[in-house]
Amino acid sequence: MSLCETLGIEYPIFCGAMARISLHELVGAVSEAGGIGILASGGMTAEQLREEIHKTREITQKPFGVNLMLQMDNIPELVEVIVEEKVALVTTGAGGPAPYIPTLKEAGIKVFPVIASVKHATKMEKAGADGVIAEGQEAGGHIGSVSTMSLIPQIVDAVDIPVIAAGGTGDGRTVAAMYALGVQGIQAGTIFLASEECQIAQSYKEAIVEAIDTGTIVTGRKAKDPVRSLKTPMLEKFLHLEQNNGSFEDLEHLTVGSLKRAVDGDLENGTPMCGEIAGLITEIRPVREIIESLFTEADQVAKDLTITK
Ligand SMILES: Cc1cc2nc3c(=O)[nH]c(=O)nc-3n(C[C@H](O)[C@H](O)[C@H](O)COP(=O)(O)O)c2cc1C
Repeated sequence: MSLCETLGIEYPIFCGAMARISLHELVGAVSEAGGIGILASGGMTAEQLREEIHKTREITQKPFGVNLMLQMDNIPELVEVIVEEKVALVTTGAGGPAPYIPTLKEAGIKVFPVIASVKHATKMEKAGADGVIAEGQEAGGHIGSVSTMSLIPQIVDAVDIPVIAAGGTGDGRTVAAMYALGVQGIQAGTIFLASEECQIAQSYKEAIVEAIDTGTIVTGRKAKDPVRSLKTPMLEKFLHLEQNNGSFEDLEHLTVGSLKRAVDGDLENGTPMCGEIAGLITEIRPVREIIESLFTEADQVAKDLTITK
């Protein structure tokens, strides 16, 4: 069965959950356009999540998902809401979802953990996941250490469940490339930041459109929690401090609340998480146009592909 048949969607694309950003407006628009939107529940109370689910359903009757950031301390309550509300899909990050998989599956909910290594992919397959989202280090947000191009084929070879590629999708060529590596779908975040429906400040969207190939920065490697964002003066200062043994307090002082600052438009002191593919994005478009053009272009790329010798 194809991913679209399994999930009842039209295009095999997940709009990856983005903390503080993937709320009902963006999630509803992606699902309504035929992909699958995913609410970012990190930092929400159970009641806030229930409200976002209801608001999403006012925009679309089509399937959508919820992302669980497993380091949060209210995961059991969030799972309860997801089960009661019969959400179609759960993706997980920042920890092992194994304890929750039986409950979710019993409720008919598909579970796709985000992983960044073969070891974790095989572990999730054994735990009963319906598929894995393999995320390369070119992605925006919290990242692993292997690039999409190298990671995907190794995971495709290691598991028998569907693999979704995350990290570096920006146009039809990149979608076709992921399919050549053996995936059954795509998860993208950065391209949807530059969508009309995404509720971030206009300055954050414009910074993505203006970004060049080397426009992102990875901070937090020393603390083993690397995060990719657009370069900002604050993040460059953070990296300098990090590399010069700045104290935990000084580093924390710079970044506490900084994703929210970026979402609200402060690109001096914010952390505008964003993937390397921003360099390929040249305009802000409606979600439907982004999704449709990705797959129309990918079909054409696949048809025209010749390996010259
Ligand atoms: C601003 C931002 C916030 C993100 N927040 C989350 C999150 O809360 N949970 C999660 O699992 N992934 C998160 N991600 C990762 C995305 O869901 C997605 O996997 C990633 O953006 C795909 O790579 P791309 O940026 O190259 O498209 C975030 C990414 C961005 C850009």
